Amino acid sequence: MDAGPLYWTSSESAIDVLLAEHQTILEVVDEIERECRRVEDGSALREPFWRDVLRFADEFDHGLHHQKEEQLLFPALERVGLSPDQGPTAVLRDEHRRIRFWRLRLEQTLVARDRTRLAATAASYVDVLRTHVMKENQILFPLCRRLLDEATLATLHREFRLLAADQRVHYWLSHPFELSAGA
Ligand SMILES: [Fe+2]
Repeated sequence: MDAGPLYWTSSESAIDVLLAEHQTILEVVDEIERECRRVEDGSALREPFWRDVLRFADEFDHGLHHQKEEQLLFPALERVGLSPDQGPTAVLRDEHRRIRFWRLRLEQTLVARDRTRLAATAASYVDVLRTHVMKENQILFPLCRRLLDEATLATLHREFRLLAADQRVHYWLSHPFELSAGA
């Protein structure tokens, strides 16, 4: 019997996808905190580490994860009654903007090679990210399970995959590489 494409039989839900992404974000946040302590203890400023943090913030957190929430999940919740102007989704959109603000400040302090401000800014970035992720885990996702039916969650899961595929295409289009000339 043909069971169909594997992902149709997966028991993973759209919420599981976002929870797993939150776990990745929290692991990166732990790394940032460890690096902050090294900077505060006088270790050399490891620019490649901070460049990786900025790239993670742009490509994973903002470029993929927030897009799943802002373009797909929040509108789904607003279609079943949440206000786009006040209430949980409005607050969380605002927090995404605050996370973006701290990421930009982080880059500024890195460019200035200002170790003290870099450590302080990174600490604020860590703080705002952790609080935001906890809020989504503890308030937003239970709300999703209560308000969204199985069909909507399944549609979101498919749309998440399409968005991720689009992001990969966008990545390769914006990072062109030259094929070596074959003989
Ligand atoms: Fe999130």
